[in-house]
Amino acid sequence: MTKDPTLHQRIAAASQAAGMVRDGMVIGYGTGRAAMSAMDALATRVRSGLRVLGIPTSVATATHAASLGLPLTDLETHPVLDLTIDGADEVDPARNIIKGGGAALFREKVLASASRRLVIVIDATKRVPRLGTTRAIPVEVLPFAVGSCTRLLAEIGGAAVRRLDLAGAPVVTDNGNHVLDVAFDAHRMADPRDLDEAMRAIPGVIITGLFWSFDPTVVVGTDTGVEVLGPPL
Ligand code: A5P
Repeated sequence: MTKDPTLHQRIAAASQAAGMVRDGMVIGYGTGRAAMSAMDALATRVRSGLRVLGIPTSVATATHAASLGLPLTDLETHPVLDLTIDGADEVDPARNIIKGGGAALFREKVLASASRRLVIVIDATKRVPRLGTTRAIPVEVLPFAVGSCTRLLAEIGGAAVRRLDLAGAPVVTDNGNHVLDVAFDAHRMADPRDLDEAMRAIPGVIITGLFWSFDPTVVVGTDTGVEVLGPPL
């Protein structure tokens, strides 16, 4: 018996996403359970002769890629990627996304922006009627500016909580920054683009976990099969 009731959904969706990769592609590797499942499935294909190069979105993902023998490259060598495969925390009906539950949002957004296509792998629990239904928005912030960002986020309606680790210390991202989880009311969440721009206008905010501009292909694992939303690959 599995402790995670969504595990089989995620593995099925990840396997389908890995099947979208073609020989010779440069792939962005996301962070989290879904992205790592996709890497596991891709590694099986690589062992059978598929040639790919990957760029990881986190130190944890780079470590996982190395353990699977997946060859890596970087953005200097390959500034344009064919596609990035990543997970998500929430996806709304317009395929707007909240990411950053694993604190890797900055590099995830960099790779999504550098990729021709973004493939998002989720289990069915990640589909929500509107963003903010199950969680706040992760926002990466310069440690120096946490106090002022918290106050200025409050001025635009956001209740910010600094993310802590199990020992009670601030979570530090791979880029040396802190993460605020910022909750807004439903009215403010209705326009992700406007909210993203308002947050990014605050000095010290480095990036937000609102992904609204990527027109992703979303691969959803459900109990009855895998559903693909958005543009086909
Ligand atoms: C990492 O910062 C996140 O954006 C993850 O992609 C997101 O939290 C989904 O993770 P899981 O696939 O583990 O649910």
